[in-house]
Amino acid sequence: MPRIRMLVSQCEVGTIISEDVRSYQGITLLTKDSILNQYIIDRLTEMGISYVWTNSSDHVEADLKLTNKELVEVSHEEAVLVVKQVLRDLSTGGKLNYHKITQLSELVYVSVNDSVNVIKCLNDIRDKDEYTYTHCVNVAFYSMLIAKWLSLPKAEIEEIIQAGLMHDIGKVLIPDEILNKPGKLLELELDIMQRHSLIGYHCIKNITEISDSIKEAVLSHHERVDGSGYPYGIRGDQIDLYAKIIAIADVYDAMTQDRVYKKGVNPFVAFEMFLTLGLGTFDIDVLNVFLKNLAVNFTGLNVILENGEHGEIVYIPPYEITKPIILNGSNFIDLSRSRIKSVGAGTSKTLCKEDSCNYQIAH
Ligand SMILES: [Fe+2]
Repeated sequence: MPRIRMLVSQCEVGTIISEDVRSYQGITLLTKDSILNQYIIDRLTEMGISYVWTNSSDHVEADLKLTNKELVEVSHEEAVLVVKQVLRDLSTGGKLNYHKITQLSELVYVSVNDSVNVIKCLNDIRDKDEYTYTHCVNVAFYSMLIAKWLSLPKAEIEEIIQAGLMHDIGKVLIPDEILNKPGKLLELELDIMQRHSLIGYHCIKNITEISDSIKEAVLSHHERVDGSGYPYGIRGDQIDLYAKIIAIADVYDAMTQDRVYKKGVNPFVAFEMFLTLGLGTFDIDVLNVFLKNLAVNFTGLNVILENGEHGEIVYIPPYEITKPIILNGSNFIDLSRSRIKSVGAGTSKTLCKEDSCNYQIAH
């Protein structure tokens, strides 16, 4: 079968590529046998990829192509693999490969205008065994969305993605038995765990290519606006914007992701927690932007209530996001009778069980 080099601009939807496509920095964007769709063709063009290799007759009908959500998932999986490699190199005494982090931020940024599929992808992740790496990537994606919703410029969004990817690098030096301990940490264990932001800062402070804002975000992502955070207990505007963004993305992902020892809570439980326990500890403007923009993406999803009723979210009031309007057939479900148990077809994210869901802001 003759192999031909085809300009991306001339590729048709359904073209099957015969070799991996890599970015100029060496990141695999698509693997051999991937099927091009219009979204992929547009993103490759945006990233300056001018050609792909294909076998001239390899073409499938459009209904077999990758969906936009699958493309985000491919980017996410790739990012987890690279973060894993970077953190493992660091934990075995190697230097932080910041070049890889900048490449990854470009890969993540490709999805900046596809918040719907980014949120769907993040909501469907069930990767509790690789939590540390998955969490870094998730925080990078959520932080990117918050930065976009705050209308920050592209250069700052890319820095925030990098800060998200690196925010927990200090955890590579925290013992696994503390890092993965189920339940509450003892005082001494908590003290060791809380050193990770300072350790992470020391890992990057002498790397001149990394901006001071990114270094500050790694150092301060556990600071809280009321002064209750760590390592220094700074408050309000003493905390940089990047750190305030990462803080919210970090806590939201930690609450909603499954761990080996606990199930993640569904997004509406997370919203409630932010609007009760979280008020006063997070920057209120950043929090409002995050919650309002995130919540609308759950319109149209199926839910199951604690009392077994099923329905579809048809409207989420912007000023009462924890009380979505839910329709079952032609009847509206009264949320005062029961709470949402799980969200989204096929998802298992549940309500917080009393004994298994400790909202530990300190971690
Ligand atoms: Fe952290």
